Amino acid sequence: MLQAAPAKVNLFLHVTGRRADGYHLLDSLVVFLAAADSLHWAEAPALSLSLDGPEGGALRAEPDNLVLRAARLLAEATGVSPRGFLRLDKHLPVASGIGGGSADAAAALRLLCRAWNVAVPPDAMAALALRLGADVPVCLASRPARMEGVGELLGPAPALPPGLGMVLANPRVALATPAVFRARAGGFSPRAALPPGWADAAAMARDLSACRNDLEAPAIGLCPAVGEVLAALRALPGCLLARMSGSGATCFALLPDAAAATAAATLLPPEWWRWGGGLYETPA
Ligand code: C5P
Repeated sequence: MLQAAPAKVNLFLHVTGRRADGYHLLDSLVVFLAAADSLHWAEAPALSLSLDGPEGGALRAEPDNLVLRAARLLAEATGVSPRGFLRLDKHLPVASGIGGGSADAAAALRLLCRAWNVAVPPDAMAALALRLGADVPVCLASRPARMEGVGELLGPAPALPPGLGMVLANPRVALATPAVFRARAGGFSPRAALPPGWADAAAMARDLSACRNDLEAPAIGLCPAVGEVLAALRALPGCLLARMSGSGATCFALLPDAAAATAAATLLPPEWWRWGGGLYETPA
């Protein structure tokens, strides 16, 4: 049994406030890409996890691994004893702002519901997801969403133009999310004004240019290579917009089509992690 764990990109990320517990209130437009980890499950009496794939070496299958935490949480919530052999085929770089760990945790919740033949009502499932991390609820949905609150409030995204392309690049520096939030200076941004949809990629890029990622400047302060990645993405043929995703260090370039994005990614320095393609097609 198999579940895809697609990467997320924050097309913009406004920090709109701060909760009493220190968590930040956000306004963000999130989309999912065809770049993905994949999680596999096979019947076995006890629960175990192995890590595989080009980025698997950066992680260890320890009890605090988000996939195992998701499995234990789901088992506890549904009263089953956790079982099965899980294998995580890791393609997304760890701690890189494209939701790898959150996507893996969300994939584990979905996969294990099928594997253990348990059903959890959507609201309860979203609450379980939130306990695993602020980005896990949106990853559970794996569809374009306007994300607010600390990540738990999900609304519809504007209608996106068909066939969008995206290039991702990471300078191979891991950035810890709490450190980036801590390095943030200044006040808060307003909630973004967005239209109901965009007819084409150029109109979308124009509106998104009026928004920003409030974590980009602090991330560049901690990791100047993010600035180099942004400059390289902006120089790609067809680039309509380049910006950092999440708390970095991965940045994206928006292009009008997926084939152009796949070709453009090969122009970036090979020592970076780089990817080009289209958006994730949410299964019906
Ligand atoms: O929820 P998650 O474990 O992904 O968050 C990691 C850290 O990022 C939190 O401990 C917090 O420091 C910061 N964070 C935040 N506001 C958010 C999401 C994350 O301050 N909305």
